[in-house]
Amino acid sequence: MGETGTRIRRHTKLSVVGAGSVGTAVAYACLLRGSADAIALYDTNAAKVRAEVLDLNHGTQFAPSCRIEGSDDIAVTAGSDLIVVTAGAKQHPGQSRLDLAAANVALARDLTPGLLSVSPEAVVVFVSNPVDIVTRAAIAASGIADGRIFGSGTVLDSGRLRYLLAHRADVAIENVHAFVVGEHGDSEVALWSGATIGGVPVKSFSVDGRPVFDPETRAELFDEVVRSAYEIIRGKGATNLAIGLSSARIVEAVLRNQRRVLAVSTLQTGRHGLQDVCLSLPTVVDARGAHTVLDVPLSPEEEAGLAASSATLREVQASLGL
Ligand code: 2OP
Repeated sequence: MGETGTRIRRHTKLSVVGAGSVGTAVAYACLLRGSADAIALYDTNAAKVRAEVLDLNHGTQFAPSCRIEGSDDIAVTAGSDLIVVTAGAKQHPGQSRLDLAAANVALARDLTPGLLSVSPEAVVVFVSNPVDIVTRAAIAASGIADGRIFGSGTVLDSGRLRYLLAHRADVAIENVHAFVVGEHGDSEVALWSGATIGGVPVKSFSVDGRPVFDPETRAELFDEVVRSAYEIIRGKGATNLAIGLSSARIVEAVLRNQRRVLAVSTLQTGRHGLQDVCLSLPTVVDARGAHTVLDVPLSPEEEAGLAASSATLREVQASLGL
């Protein structure tokens, strides 16, 4: 509070690294939602970043106030409160996220020290895939393991599951609570045991006395979640709009110190027996980053699924010397 009693709002700067379809969708979602006071877009392709920044700036009259700039010089990101990294090789039809590991790990190792040298206080959120492996590499390259560097993880997958549950139950999505955890990828796990709709456990949610989500339906819906990205990539070449919106939610949790519980990817330090691997669990996200993993009760199947997801990621990590 200032002397006159008026609240002084701190100026917030978001940088988005990568002006491809995901980076521009993140910037666009954040612009529309008024997530930051300033957005800087950084990409090594000068013509592309200039074009995207012009296009965004031409819409600023119609969005909450925001200063947008961009460059192929990393200096444009200086003084960021938050950096969202989307740069890297993208998934093509027929590829899994893990197929991008070597290229995007090398990029994260190269980029992270430079980004932190011009924004020493910034929280850094990785979106580039495979996000869990890339985040692990960035933490190793920077030595920052306190949650200030984390990955977008399964926030989007959880949103996909909530969308399907809300649609099937015919209930507002805000009243659906369900998390997808583990790898942001094929080995991810749905936490059915804690999922609720309006406070009713999903497993027992019924309409006219008939359960809506029997085991077959649950398996079908979860399969749809896991397959979604492949289907979108086949149809339009990339997923970008929903990852843009889900990233904006993460951006706001950090820049507005919201203490939101989100399924982001953090370096695990022992909970559920998980160690030395980045994967997603419901975690408190605020201005310091993602630092408190909730002690979520898991069924034996969920626990086993999470252990298998962790083993998959550790295998990829080991193959890359992480
Ligand atoms: C997604 O899940 C491909 O990771 C991207 O949309």
